[in-house]
Amino acid sequence: MDVHVLTLFPAMLEGPLRESIVGRAVENGVVRIRIHNIRDYAHDRHRTTDDYPYGGGGGMVMKPEPLFEAVEAVRSLIGEENGRERAEGAHVVLMTPQGEVLTQALVEELASKSDLVLICGHYEGVDERVVEHLVDREISIGDYVLSGGEIPAMAVVDAVVRLLPGAVGDGQSIEDDSHSTGLIQFPQYTRPAEYRGRQVPAVLLSGNHEEVRRWRRRQSLRRTQQRRPDLLEKADLSSEDSALLAEQEG
Ligand code: ADE
Repeated sequence: MDVHVLTLFPAMLEGPLRESIVGRAVENGVVRIRIHNIRDYAHDRHRTTDDYPYGGGGGMVMKPEPLFEAVEAVRSLIGEENGRERAEGAHVVLMTPQGEVLTQALVEELASKSDLVLICGHYEGVDERVVEHLVDREISIGDYVLSGGEIPAMAVVDAVVRLLPGAVGDGQSIEDDSHSTGLIQFPQYTRPAEYRGRQVPAVLLSGNHEEVRRWRRRQSLRRTQQRRPDLLEKADLSSEDSALLAEQEG
């Protein structure tokens, strides 16, 4: 996969994207991430990327020209590297609190694309012509407002890249993730078996794989019921799940 991030603050992304699973995925050639400075596509003397809103009101609005030119330049680059078809199929996303809220299902959809172009919005917003004519979708990472789209873009890159084949060693750990099952994850423990008088649940030490599986499923269901009843309502529960939920604590 190729990811292109368009930002006014490249340094916000450069360090973090070199670390951890994403950094290793880049090193191993699982994903290529290029960061482009939107300011490079502003041509006036001051390289202006924002302006006052028509109609008045506070704040500044990101101008359309640098964003259109930046996306066009990225499409040309994708075309040169991979052919026209991929350039045309590039998925262009604007990070904005007005977008659809990111979910694991949306992350999975994005992970199936060959070319992702993420635009980090800033100031009070982005000229609506960008939204209407340049981007395929707008994505929010939650119902709160950050000062810009850089951290949201990093969240998208992180969530997407770890799903790519070869990014995470153990396929099972991805399948067990909170949310990939529609439920939140069961509690995890590692050694020591006793720490400060607190024991790891005996079933996890038992070596009985079927009992471990049932215990984890029950924990996931209970936690989801307690913490995220909205998710449990949407979940497709089996008859075993209903039985596990009804079981006594243990
Ligand atoms: N830009 C500012 N806040 C944001 C959010 N919550 N999600 C995506 N982009 C943003």
